[in-house]
Amino acid sequence: MSNKELKRTLVLEVVRVTEAGAIAASALNGRGDEKAADAAAVEAMRKAFNELPISGRVVIGEGERDEAPMLFIGEEVGAGGPEVDIALDPLEGTTLCAKAMANALAVVAITERGGLLNAPDVYMDKIAVGGGLPDGVIDLDKSPTENVEAVAAAKGKDVKDMMACVLDRPRHAKLIKELRKLGCGITLIGDGDVAGVIATTDPKTGIDIYMGSGGAPEGVLAAAALRCIGGQMQGRLLFRNDDERARAHKWGIEDLNRKYTMMEMASGDVIFAATGVTDGSMLDGVHRTSEGVWTDTVSMRSKTKTIRRVKALHGHGKVDMV
Ligand code: FBP
Repeated sequence: MSNKELKRTLVLEVVRVTEAGAIAASALNGRGDEKAADAAAVEAMRKAFNELPISGRVVIGEGERDEAPMLFIGEEVGAGGPEVDIALDPLEGTTLCAKAMANALAVVAITERGGLLNAPDVYMDKIAVGGGLPDGVIDLDKSPTENVEAVAAAKGKDVKDMMACVLDRPRHAKLIKELRKLGCGITLIGDGDVAGVIATTDPKTGIDIYMGSGGAPEGVLAAAALRCIGGQMQGRLLFRNDDERARAHKWGIEDLNRKYTMMEMASGDVIFAATGVTDGSMLDGVHRTSEGVWTDTVSMRSKTKTIRRVKALHGHGKVDMV
């Protein structure tokens, strides 16, 4: 199968992978056990990946080989076929799932070899907006005030009618104070900044801009999503100590202060898929009903800008799946 054909097929096949991760995690929804929910998602996602006709290499995964038993960075997955790179988070929002809160997702991005930033598991400063705005409207080097004002002007809105999305963390106290002073609204989220970034692309969420720091791997996944849906994003790795800086060097990152564009985080032909684990702003979560297990997935491709929404009923009539 050629790479071109593969991409067309993969955009559908990858749905099985995120569905598998989400269904497995959802069995532990609200059970207060982050680790068990994550482990279940990892195992199910890995099994599903190994059935795909690809030679996949995990670039963004569960951690380095010595700390993650499965789907570790560098692990080869797939049943054999064209070479691709993979970014994954079998359960994005482990706490959200453990506490049965909104927006836990199973997420995967697939690119050609070399298409993903080898981001170490450190924090990343992020800024993102949805599509239809002038290029360069956001800039990590500008202040939050300047960015909110620029986006408001581009949208023809008053700053006071703007809504920013920020992770609710003590480290964001200064950012939140500055946004409060501006008078704009802030949607504070407990976890799950991949969903937070994607929310900027959907007018129904009312979120105009995403700001603040979160995981760098999640930053790469969010960039992959925006490449497909449209939007703009920038990221800059943040290092808290020498160990984190050494890890960055290990992944070939020389300029530790570099500002990455969305394209530099996820380049070329990108496929992105996410299945809801819990109900959220973009997707419904997994629902176990008397009919079977319902999943809701979005699968999209940057090249064609096709966004597919797949509602699936699994094990219809098979009571043992429910
Ligand atoms: P996990 O699924 O690994 O728990 O990540 C959830 C998350 O909220 C991410 O979406 C976000 O990027 C990161 O954690 C933020 O990290 P921290 O909780 O340390 O602020």
